[in-house]
Amino acid sequence: MKAVIQDRYGPPEVLQLVDLPVPEVSDDQVLIAVHAAGVDRGTWHLTTGLPYLLRLSGYGFRRPRVPTAGRDVAGTVVAIGSAVTGFAVGDQVFGSCSGAYAEYACGPASSFIMKPAVLSFEQAAAAPTSAITALAALRTVGGLQAGQAVLVVGASGGVGAFAVQIAHAMGAEVTAVCSSRGVEFVRSLGADAVIDYAKAPLAPERKYHLILDIAGGRPLRRLRRLLTGSGTLVIVGSETGGRLFGPLGRTLQALLLSPFVRQRLKGLMAFTNPEGLAALSRLIEAGSVTPVVVKSYSLAEAAQAVRQVGEGGILGKVVLSVRA
Ligand SMILES: NC(=O)c1ccc[n+]([C@@H]2O[C@H](COP(=O)([O-])OP(=O)(O)OC[C@H]3O[C@@H](n4cnc5c(N)ncnc54)[C@H](OP(=O)(O)O)[C@@H]3O)[C@@H](O)[C@H]2O)c1
Repeated sequence: MKAVIQDRYGPPEVLQLVDLPVPEVSDDQVLIAVHAAGVDRGTWHLTTGLPYLLRLSGYGFRRPRVPTAGRDVAGTVVAIGSAVTGFAVGDQVFGSCSGAYAEYACGPASSFIMKPAVLSFEQAAAAPTSAITALAALRTVGGLQAGQAVLVVGASGGVGAFAVQIAHAMGAEVTAVCSSRGVEFVRSLGADAVIDYAKAPLAPERKYHLILDIAGGRPLRRLRRLLTGSGTLVIVGSETGGRLFGPLGRTLQALLLSPFVRQRLKGLMAFTNPEGLAALSRLIEAGSVTPVVVKSYSLAEAAQAVRQVGEGGILGKVVLSVRA
């Protein structure tokens, strides 16, 4: 099969298309014929090995421990392990596993769920990491309730576009922060109000019960001024903070400060998991969430796709289209 691998960290061009044997399923695994694979900021971080702290968290210090690239995937089940129940050959599924940028990918059965029929494979592959991050930030960590006001900073990108839709579906009043190119886009996703951060500063005339800090790396004191007295700030990420720690420096600062203030200051480390996939599927089937794919690339163009995501400014998601 054709597969994308990287034998070192570096610019997206370290991603190479090679021939590999089709993976063999072990007892608890499912093998899928990949139709589409998602590209997200996390893939860019794993390609470049930045920030360096990431390399210490099990991904490989000098070079990637797992050379096959890609995580989010949608496809058709072609083989199942002897201990797997709940899937059959021919099922259309989506989820996350290592080696998603390939014609075939293999992972634990718990990494996948049936693809909602309303989604194309490309839409399904765009969802897992970004949508489950948004869900975790709003619900599990953020504790958002219907009727509350939420500020989504970085609303037009991969995580933000899901966060706006999910918060709207949860009955929150959603204010989205993005640049001018994203204003109409985030409105179309359900934002009640939009702040173009290049034109207007985030001024504390208005207070929010929850802030998702997805981009921009603004100082904590500025974000805290926008929170209600007992509001919650969830730091999801940003591309600021340097090559060593990335956004983790601000997260650490928030965690250290949190016990001493009334507001809740939280970090987030979201992973695709069965409960998250099930909750996401319910939202998709209810019509509350629709992944927005702005561009698809071929498997051979994986490096270009990852480069585009790294350069930013995408409204929604980029995917690899692997087979029709
Ligand atoms: N904690 C976790 O578990 C987790 C999981 C997934 C992702 N992340 C992190 O979350 C961050 C966002 O990921 P993503 O996939 O959504 O990235 P993305 O697709 O690049 O989206 C980021 C968005 O932020 C906007 N933006 C840039 N600068 C901004 C600013 N100063 N103020 C407001 N918005 C700004 C960008 O649009 P404009 O350029 O048009 O402004 C873009 O739409 C990344 O750092 C990623 O690593 C964390």
